[in-house]
Amino acid sequence: MIQENKNILQKNAPIGVFDSGVGGLTVAREIMRQMPNEKIVYFGDTARVPYGSKSKETVTRFSKQIVRFLQTYQVKTIVVACNTASAFALEELEQETDIPVIGVLKPGAKTAAEVTRNGKIGVIATEATIGSKMYSYYIKELNKQVTIYGKACPLFVPLVEEGLWEDPVTDEIAKRYLTELIDIDIDTLILGCTHYPLIRSTLGRIMGEKVTLVNPAYETAMELKALLMEKGLLNGEHPKLGENQYQFYVSDGAEKFKRFANSIIKYGILSAKTINIEQY
Ligand code: DGL
Repeated sequence: MIQENKNILQKNAPIGVFDSGVGGLTVAREIMRQMPNEKIVYFGDTARVPYGSKSKETVTRFSKQIVRFLQTYQVKTIVVACNTASAFALEELEQETDIPVIGVLKPGAKTAAEVTRNGKIGVIATEATIGSKMYSYYIKELNKQVTIYGKACPLFVPLVEEGLWEDPVTDEIAKRYLTELIDIDIDTLILGCTHYPLIRSTLGRIMGEKVTLVNPAYETAMELKALLMEKGLLNGEHPKLGENQYQFYVSDGAEKFKRFANSIIKYGILSAKTINIEQY
């Protein structure tokens, strides 16, 4: 067991959110928007990113260390914001701790299964997430009639991190990746990687308006809210002035992380601290 949590979970305890790096900020941002009273402790594994090209064993080991770290903050729930970690490690993490753990795949899969009309769903993600076939697994659990087409798009992560969100280079690469999904005539596309919501307008323009884009970050925040309400854990009070509502930790490059975070999260200047994740 990672840590027995015998304490009664507190409404005003923070939510733990983790990712392989900066991408999970798209999930943290949705949580901030949808649940403005919640506190967040975020960990980005910037020293060991990317997870999308690593093995299940490695990603699971990293994820367990991060869960141990987050539990030192008495978090009331943990959100695995990283698609790759959700695909590879969620089930093991759920068994290792007694606080609720939510991944981003199931909420995204559920929405895609509901919104498709022609039963052709595309998933774009890292090589690891596509290789795991976990999106297909979760979608098929809900709707056996659909066909899922997975496409790994490994160049999107560095393009987003370079800030090329609206750029001819990103357009060109997106066209190359997406043409086969357009030709297959999918009507729903899951943005199955933390970074992709940041190039949503490029992806939407290339796919055309007949294709519904599903953002698992948004769906996950909705599911988290429903879960917290159901368990009576939604924080009814806004944190007091001076209370540290959002805390960010990384395994390397806190300054670079902070710059990226400030470019996508507009809640004042965020600070980030580097910690040694290997000790957990
Ligand atoms: N956060 C990862 C994901 O959503 C993308 C970056 C990586 O490969 O670590 O799959």
